[in-house]
Formats: sequence, C-alpha cells, structure tokens
Amino acid sequence: MTLKELKTQCSECDRCPLGKTKKNTVFGAGRPDADVMLIGEAPGASEDEQGLPFVGAAGQLLDRYFEAVGIDREQVYIANMLKCRPPRNRDPLPEEKEACFPYLKEQIRQIDPGIIVCLGRISAERLIGGNFRITRDHGKWYQKGKFQITAVYHPSLLLRDPSRREEMLADLMELRRKMDEMKYL
Ligand code: URA
Repeated sequence: MTLKELKTQCSECDRCPLGKTKKNTVFGAGRPDADVMLIGEAPGASEDEQGLPFVGAAGQLLDRYFEAVGIDREQVYIANMLKCRPPRNRDPLPEEKEACFPYLKEQIRQIDPGIIVCLGRISAERLIGGNFRITRDHGKWYQKGKFQITAVYHPSLLLRDPSRREEMLADLMELRRKMDEMKYL
C-alpha cells in the first residue's frame, strides 16, 4: 500500500465513532520521505476545519520553535496519534488510540524516518513506553528498533504554561544538533 492509498483508507475509516463527528480527517503533512517525523496527539478545531495537522495556535507556536532552531517544516513529516478530532478536544480514549494506531504504524513504516519526535505525553506513552513521564523524560533519546526517538512538550502545554518554554527550546536545539550529526539537513 502507498501512503496515498493509506490516506484514502483512513478518510473512509469507521473503526471508532470519531469518524462520524469529524469534519475532515487529519492524516498528516510533510515530505513522504522525511528523515524526521513528529507525532502529536489529535486534531483540534482548526486542524479539523483544514484537514492539516498543527495549523492552530499550538501549530503556530511550533512553527516559531522550528524557525528558532532552523528546522524547515516542509522538510519533516507531522502526524498525530488520532486522525480525527475528539469532541471538544477531550483526551483520546484508549479504544480510539488502539483503533487508530495501525494507521500510524503503517505511516511510520512508509515514511521510514530516522528520528521520531513525540509531541507531548500521549504519543510518548504509546511510542516510548507506558511509564514515560513527560516532565521527567522530555529531551531524552531512546533507540527503538531502527528509530532514534525522543519526546518534547506538547506546544498546547506551552501555551498554558510558558515557564516550560526554555526547556522546549533546549530540546529542539538538541534535535537540530542530532539532525546535523545524522546529516539530515
Ligand atoms: N494538537 C495536536 O496534538 N495535534 C494537532 O494537529 C493540533 C493540536
């Protein structure tokens, strides 16, 4: 299956009830052959409207970090754990995360990045491990199979708690350093 076919399949998905309340599926955006893949939680209202990940306030903050450390959004791939918006932005339910996970897994397999960056706790718990604690473990690097994987704060958290912003900048500077080291730029 190609990434495009997976996207079509995903847009017709009825594995959980969120497909009925969404406006648009937010499959992901960026280079299909990106070396770096970032994975958030679930679409919010703006993403649901536009069918694109991280285009609302959190996404705009993320763009400012990218700019600060010299990462081009066009060059990476951004997706979410869930492809459909949970009503009123509530946390994804365990059964929604499980129903949607095969899409993410296949998406990762197709894109085949060298580096995976979890944006926030929800994707970090699933992709790094169950006892992952974002305040304690953000910015640490893990080798999982062939992937180098790390987690940083979710930009929505930084909108609520600006005191974490320096840590975020340090983590993204380290990401950029790693990308240089791996000749990803
Ligand atoms: N928050 C997310 O986790 N993903 C988005 O796409 C937007 C906000």
